[in-house]
Amino acid sequence: MEEMKVTKFPEGFLWGSASAAYQIEGGWREDGKGITNWDQFVRIPGKTYKATTGDVAVDHYHRYKEDIALMAEMGLKTYRFSVSWARIYPEGRGEVNPKGIEFYENIIDECLKYGIEPMVTIYHWDLPQALVDLYGGWESEEIIEDYVNYAKTLFKAYGSKVKYWITFNEQNIFTSLGWLTAQHPPGKFDDQKTFYQVNHHVFMAHAKAVLAYREMGGTGKIGASFAYTPSYALDCKPENVMSKHDYDELKNFWWMDVYAYGRYPKAAMNYLRKKGFAPVVTKDDQKILKAAAAEINFMGVNYYQSCVCEYNPMDGVTPYGTMNTTGVKGSAQVLGVPGIYKNPANPYLMTTDWDWSIDPVGLRYCCREITSRYDLPIIISENGLGAFDKKTEDHKIHDEYRIDYLREHLKELGKAIEEGCEVLAYCTWSFTDLLSWLNGYQKRYGFVYVDREEEEGATLDRYKKDSFYWYQDVIKQDGENLFNIINN
Ligand code: BG6
Repeated sequence: MEEMKVTKFPEGFLWGSASAAYQIEGGWREDGKGITNWDQFVRIPGKTYKATTGDVAVDHYHRYKEDIALMAEMGLKTYRFSVSWARIYPEGRGEVNPKGIEFYENIIDECLKYGIEPMVTIYHWDLPQALVDLYGGWESEEIIEDYVNYAKTLFKAYGSKVKYWITFNEQNIFTSLGWLTAQHPPGKFDDQKTFYQVNHHVFMAHAKAVLAYREMGGTGKIGASFAYTPSYALDCKPENVMSKHDYDELKNFWWMDVYAYGRYPKAAMNYLRKKGFAPVVTKDDQKILKAAAAEINFMGVNYYQSCVCEYNPMDGVTPYGTMNTTGVKGSAQVLGVPGIYKNPANPYLMTTDWDWSIDPVGLRYCCREITSRYDLPIIISENGLGAFDKKTEDHKIHDEYRIDYLREHLKELGKAIEEGCEVLAYCTWSFTDLLSWLNGYQKRYGFVYVDREEEEGATLDRYKKDSFYWYQDVIKQDGENLFNIINN
């Protein structure tokens, strides 16, 4: 729809930026915080780039006032951050830790002081280890009640101040890396049966938390954030087009359909039944999923890249191969599922140093697909470029590549809005530099450079990058400068 004339971003549009507790806070043993699955996992040799941990991370635990003051200086309208479950419940359940409650209360108050809307992610991958030791964490349905109890504690403590809630960050990613590729805790490999059952437990936890929020009188907006990698068929060869269809059912709609409709996609479920991997879903579960689907207010989208689908023969590539966690371009392998699809590189797109395709149109595609399939408002809860940044001797960071990346994505988002998508917020990943789970500290995403390397001991001082000033200007003009570029 190229003739669309874009005019402006909607009234009250939330220009934001995002983070996650484990990736920024540090203070891993402070003020009564319990040990998490990640605190343990990073200590297994070979699991993270140069054995990096979030023990100190970028020390947001002690520097949150400085960081939020920088957000205010930038003009941010919303800040998306996650709560560490183990700070609130060190054992995952039982006694609440008042110091944990206080820490996030301080963050929320600090945001509100500057007119920044806090957007809270309840779960961004760090799970109290005590629950893993007790019953295997997400593998047991016992966790559903513990998660809901934890979520209710947050609703009760912060519900009068927080109007945006994200139940889960990228359920599809933490379960895939946790139970299929062994790259995240609990480090299981190719355990497909457990993978689908774990996912069902997460869906139930999400659904029951959404319903609990409403039962408690919550009138804010609530939903989940999905890591959406939209797909394009390689060409019009029917097998390739069908491989795209299968990919979407298994990799995208499997999650989004449950959030939005409260049911699993049929063809994917049939396939998994035949394979013996389908989760056990009771009639009661179905009712709860449906009831919760009627209560969500948005689809959260974390968008980084798109992919290409091509038919993959039975003796073709598998889902398991080298992932680029070093920044050495070209080191990632083509992966896929035998008999269904594989994801070759897109010859029309450039890639980052970590081999992620750069596709601004893909963001628009996500918004259009969600609008036509689910008719839900959208929160872009993450979008950004991981890159090697260099600080010059006079403490400047010239990250024009990041500005280009964000500008092009925002232009496409603007078009999506003009085409009828209701987009409530756009959060870049990330505000400050932070720990990239598997890629150490060298893969930087922030508007604010943090002086640290993989080894501990640097100053952790903050420096504004060129992109900081650029986004500040975008926010000041409510994106109008972007639209001028599109329309002229
Ligand atoms: C998302 C996560 O997957 O992408 C973030 O929600 C993560 O936590 C981000 O950091 C970027 O991924 P990576 O692997 O480059 O750090």
